[in-house]
Amino acid sequence: MPDTKRFPDGFYIGGATSDWQFEGGFGEGGRGLLSVDFATDGNQECPRQVTWVDKDGNRGKSHWEDPLPEGATLTMFDDEYYPSHRAVDFYHHWKEDVADMAEMGFTTFRFGTCWTRIFPTGLEDEPNQEGLDFYEAVVDELNAHGIAPLITICHDEMPLELVERYNGWAGRETIGCYLKYCRALFERLGDKVPLWLTFNEPNAIRGVCMMGIKDQSWPTYWQAIHHIAVASSSAVKLGRELCPGARFSTMFAMSEFYAASPRPADVWARYERRHEQYAIIDAMCGGGYPHNMDKVLRDFGAEIHMEPGDEELLAAYPLDFVSFSYYRSSLISDGDGVHLLGGATNSYCNEKTPWGWAVDPLGLRFCLNELYDRYHKPLFVIENGMGAIDKLEADGSVHDDYRIEYLSKHLSAIRDAICIDHVDCIGYTMWGNIDLVSRSTGEMAKRYGFVYVDMDDKGNGTLRRSRKDSFYWFKKVCESNGADLSV
Ligand code: BG6
Repeated sequence: MPDTKRFPDGFYIGGATSDWQFEGGFGEGGRGLLSVDFATDGNQECPRQVTWVDKDGNRGKSHWEDPLPEGATLTMFDDEYYPSHRAVDFYHHWKEDVADMAEMGFTTFRFGTCWTRIFPTGLEDEPNQEGLDFYEAVVDELNAHGIAPLITICHDEMPLELVERYNGWAGRETIGCYLKYCRALFERLGDKVPLWLTFNEPNAIRGVCMMGIKDQSWPTYWQAIHHIAVASSSAVKLGRELCPGARFSTMFAMSEFYAASPRPADVWARYERRHEQYAIIDAMCGGGYPHNMDKVLRDFGAEIHMEPGDEELLAAYPLDFVSFSYYRSSLISDGDGVHLLGGATNSYCNEKTPWGWAVDPLGLRFCLNELYDRYHKPLFVIENGMGAIDKLEADGSVHDDYRIEYLSKHLSAIRDAICIDHVDCIGYTMWGNIDLVSRSTGEMAKRYGFVYVDMDDKGNGTLRRSRKDSFYWFKKVCESNGADLSV
């Protein structure tokens, strides 16, 4: 039976994707190379890797978040499979995919623009018009269906050339390249796109693929984070000029953490871990680094070099709303050390996804409340969903009752946070509304979507789209604006 609680009027509801996990179109329309284009497929036992040639010409592979060997250059090989190249080919299926979203009743759709589709190396003076034409066509199609476009400007990606030239976000020069890219997007799409995300999960990205940093270390990471924060505030400043009325955010990874026991040392470890994350959110959303930033950096053995005017910029141009991903919770113990999001994936919850992620809807309500307590800004749950193994039946149906149950519980937690706790949450986008490539493992087998895509882990398949049972369930959720979450 529908219950009386519902989402507020104007609530944004829909789905979320990124460019390189979803779009494909590799080498088409003038798209240049991203560092993530060198990441192979993988699975739970063997995570994805990047392929390279070292300075002596030897071919090799390493974990996609590890440092590259000194002097190594990212290189592709014909006998490897690289999932970002084809992904699930939104590049050629966008009309059909947007029609599915419209039929479900989405009021928003989040997607990433691909940096190298607009600036193929990151260094050009002028943008690639063909890339902008593609995104404008997608934006127009969404608006024609009454679906508000929500664009992630940089979803864990880096033009290859900026890796080689500047060591990715470790180099201050990358900020200027990013702002040129933002300007091109804002000038072409600024009056058609109401919601922008400057970055995706800066508190959860590592390594050469996602940050463009070859020599991963904590001091380099924190310097890169500072450059990202400055780039984000500079983008907000530019956006205020070029896209009046648009709202800006960055998406932060926000799994819930619990102390592994009531022992004060474990509770303190949990507190410290949370504050590592808040340090980054404060810088980008809260007007600057927190009062205890020197302690946070000391724990990581890092320091940040700032230029004159950086702190004033962060203070003057914070993000408008706080958006975050929430999938699971985990436990923190004294002695776990610093590592932002890493660590155990277990929690007090018995229920887990096939990938071992604890299913914990109350943890989402916690996150919403904690973030609202700290920032007093509108919140947006930008990613949430369940990676599972789906079976396509002979008649084209997929019976994903486990996903419906997961989503129902999490949407219910959001509704409670809004209706009972009075948290100002303005939207929800389910991750991977159409099946796409897993970020962490590079698999297709880990499916999230309302729509099944016929493709396997090695890229074989027709790419045909089939509606799962959750498609029809989510349509009911959208149509009732969250009043009916019954399974
Ligand atoms: C989020 C990322 O953290 O998690 C997405 O923004 C990612 O890019 C999602 O796909 C789910 O993780 P995974 O590893 O299951 O794809």
